[in-house]
Amino acid sequence: MADLSTTVNGLQMPNPFVIGSGPPGTNANVIGKAYDEGWGAVIAKTISLEAEKVINVQPRYARLRSRESKEIFGWENIELISDRSFETWMDEFKSLKDKYPDRVLIASIMEEYRKDAWCEIVEKCQDVGVDAFELNLSCPHGLPERKMGSAMGVNPDLVEEVTGWAMSVAKVPVWAKMTPNVTHIEDPSAAALRAGADGISAINTIRSVLGVDLKTLRPEPSVEGYTTPGGYSCQAVKPIALRICMEIATLIRAEFPGRTLSGIGGIETGQDAAQFILLGSDCVQVCTGVMKNGYGMVKPMIEELSQFMDEHGFNSIDDFKGHSLQFFRTHAELVEIQAAARAKKKAAHEAKKTAEASDDAMIREDAQWTGDDFVDQSDALSRG
Ligand SMILES: Cc1cc2nc3c(=O)[nH]c(=O)nc-3n(C[C@H](O)[C@H](O)[C@H](O)COP(=O)(O)O)c2cc1C
Repeated sequence: MADLSTTVNGLQMPNPFVIGSGPPGTNANVIGKAYDEGWGAVIAKTISLEAEKVINVQPRYARLRSRESKEIFGWENIELISDRSFETWMDEFKSLKDKYPDRVLIASIMEEYRKDAWCEIVEKCQDVGVDAFELNLSCPHGLPERKMGSAMGVNPDLVEEVTGWAMSVAKVPVWAKMTPNVTHIEDPSAAALRAGADGISAINTIRSVLGVDLKTLRPEPSVEGYTTPGGYSCQAVKPIALRICMEIATLIRAEFPGRTLSGIGGIETGQDAAQFILLGSDCVQVCTGVMKNGYGMVKPMIEELSQFMDEHGFNSIDDFKGHSLQFFRTHAELVEIQAAARAKKKAAHEAKKTAEASDDAMIREDAQWTGDDFVDQSDALSRG
């Protein structure tokens, strides 16, 4: 059986499955449960020094379901960071490290734009024994109103400065968590890496409005009839997360070799995880998936990843990490590659010309589409 254990920035994990910051890491009880179920590491819910400033509303989630199966595939939240006191968190981190000394505990931290606050939160958390930090520079709702979270993450200068503050006192690895709500993810990622971050986590949630209730005409989630744009997660965001992870992994390989990437966004199966690792992630995080499926989901994920590795003869995560990055090209290069491939195929398989001609007939020029066979045309363009 394949070996799923992995070491990321010196953090030894039994498998690459990490609880992403959010409700699944909201107190010591649930973090302990995650370790007991077999998760490779846990990133706690984001904390700050002054929890009394954090005031949540209800409802704070809204979910999108498939029309037919009713499975939840999209999830919006307007939840803030933890509203539990900093002192309570320090006690809980300490007790977790006493009870699970060999398990990786990562503190997710967020502070206002003050160097002393960032240094204080890093120093206090590492004093109670956390193994690493994730800097939340990426929450897209609520906190930006206090110039925190993604208000910092969308500005590479601020990312570099704040990450530098954390690095000036951190004695353990630091990951900077990126917001996807930017045009060029390379800019804030490179800023964090220039400031010395050991790794990047991506993605946090995508700014969204889940929908409008057609009976009440109120957008969701509706708090006393009103709402505010929130963060979108779950299966629906996976393609966007994969693209962003691909871009960050490409940047890391080109300019910051040795730094790491923790992939996040819509991961619910071992196959999802395999895709993030193939695109350069060192480990993967799951948040909404645990809210849908419970902590026990890690067991089938381990089995599925293991089976994928066995099928391909991969013995370790390193054997396939980043393997699929080599298959990205510009669109112009795809046109050239396809023209060359078609020419070669036609020359080599003269006898199959008729069949290919009928394929070509199906994929007509845009100007020739009639509308009668529109679905067939779209389907034909999805095939190789
Ligand atoms: C309800 C909820 C609360 C979240 N809270 C936090 C948080 O406190 N800190 C943070 O960095 N990310 C937070 N996230 C974002 C997740 O960690 C993750 O980046 C995002 O949801 C995408 O991954 P997923 O599809 O596996 O959930 C939260 C997500 C959800 C759904």
